[in-house]
Amino acid sequence: MKPNTTPINPFGVLLQPNRPDSDIRDLDVDMLRELVWREHLIVLRGFRTFDGAEDLSEYCARWGEISVWPFGKVLELVERNNPEDHIFDNNYVPLHWDGMYRPQVPEFQLFHCVRAPLASQGGRTTFSNTVLALDHAPAHLRTLWNKVTGSYHRKMEFYDSKTISPIIDSHPQRGFSVIRYNEPPRKGYGQFVNPPILEFSGVSGDELTEFHRSLQEALYSPDNFYAHEWHEGDLVVADNFSLLHGREAFETKAPRHLRRVHVLSNPPLDNPRLVSYK
Ligand SMILES: [Fe+2]
Repeated sequence: MKPNTTPINPFGVLLQPNRPDSDIRDLDVDMLRELVWREHLIVLRGFRTFDGAEDLSEYCARWGEISVWPFGKVLELVERNNPEDHIFDNNYVPLHWDGMYRPQVPEFQLFHCVRAPLASQGGRTTFSNTVLALDHAPAHLRTLWNKVTGSYHRKMEFYDSKTISPIIDSHPQRGFSVIRYNEPPRKGYGQFVNPPILEFSGVSGDELTEFHRSLQEALYSPDNFYAHEWHEGDLVVADNFSLLHGREAFETKAPRHLRRVHVLSNPPLDNPRLVSYK
């Protein structure tokens, strides 16, 4: 089956069926994987999808080896009462890459939308294309960003680990430059449950302030940034080696339920930046 394709601004591709009752499983995964490598993000909308978490993980196994967490293969992203971590809260999630604190870093994130909030309720998933951000950055900013190394320590339900990574790193398999950055939680966003400990070295004082300001401006620039507004049944596949992602805040108790699966690269990538893991 050949779907209809529409470019997403400023990056990514929307795929929709060209006839009714099309099943997502009828799309060739090799073709989709190539598309993610080229475009970094695809949205599959309007297809017949999955009945439950197991159905989703069976499909994801077609993409490659699934990264198994202590909770299993599928993360149920839904707001919890009195969450112990901001992931399960309803506030914004700063930009980061998945697996940064894990022994292996997944190449693909597959998100399936079970229930979507109304547009007015917020909760878009945010993606920044760091390849574009670097392409668009003037030389003096690349030079500044290149001086900085981030040190990240995070303790939560599933790990207590530390990662140290240069801000400008290389794509682990294709060699081009990418940005690895966990954005410090912005002030003024209310209570941020269980924040990580972040330290940035290489510059200090005004230069460090300018580093965060200029990098965040670039990552959130409309030239490099896409926020996905969920529709029920959407499947989004994102290139976790090249993009950073986060979440916008949403209205508490809004119907927002995503399922997320991590698929490893082939061969799997042992986290090159992990310093300690418990
Ligand atoms: Fe994430």
